[in-house]
Amino acid sequence: MELEASIRARVREIIASRPGKDRAQLLEVLHEVQGAFQSVPRVAAEEIEREMGVPVTDTYGVVTFYDLLTDKPTGRTVLRICEDVTCHLHGSSELVAAAERSLGPEGEPSADGSISWTRCACLGLCDQAPAAHLGGEPLAPCTPAFVEKAGARHV
Ligand code: FES
Repeated sequence: MELEASIRARVREIIASRPGKDRAQLLEVLHEVQGAFQSVPRVAAEEIEREMGVPVTDTYGVVTFYDLLTDKPTGRTVLRICEDVTCHLHGSSELVAAAERSLGPEGEPSADGSISWTRCACLGLCDQAPAAHLGGEPLAPCTPAFVEKAGARHV
């Protein structure tokens, strides 16, 4: 209950920091919520509904549409590996294999909660494929050795 109350309070702060409470603010609010909690938990969506009038189902429609948002817990840092066509042709499957070896199953936070990894669509770095993002920072071209090094630091 205490955690739920603190999430609700933080969501209210995030909403209050925006120039308005209208639906146009939703994406920015969700990015801030994601940054604060590494996901958009159900209780946050409920608070958004209460404060902004955006139904929980609409919030989850946005969360499930955008690759950078998730309703599932992630590590504090997320490694995103592009698996779109160009990166696939340039060896992204080797990055995925390295992530599975060094970081464990896709989408699951490491034991210390510091990192998780996921596949994603094009990151706009096709000319430097295979590409990845680590904590929002571009890594291109990325190598299996880099992925394993990231894993060794966090697991
Ligand atoms: S296809 Fe991977 S960055 Fe575009």
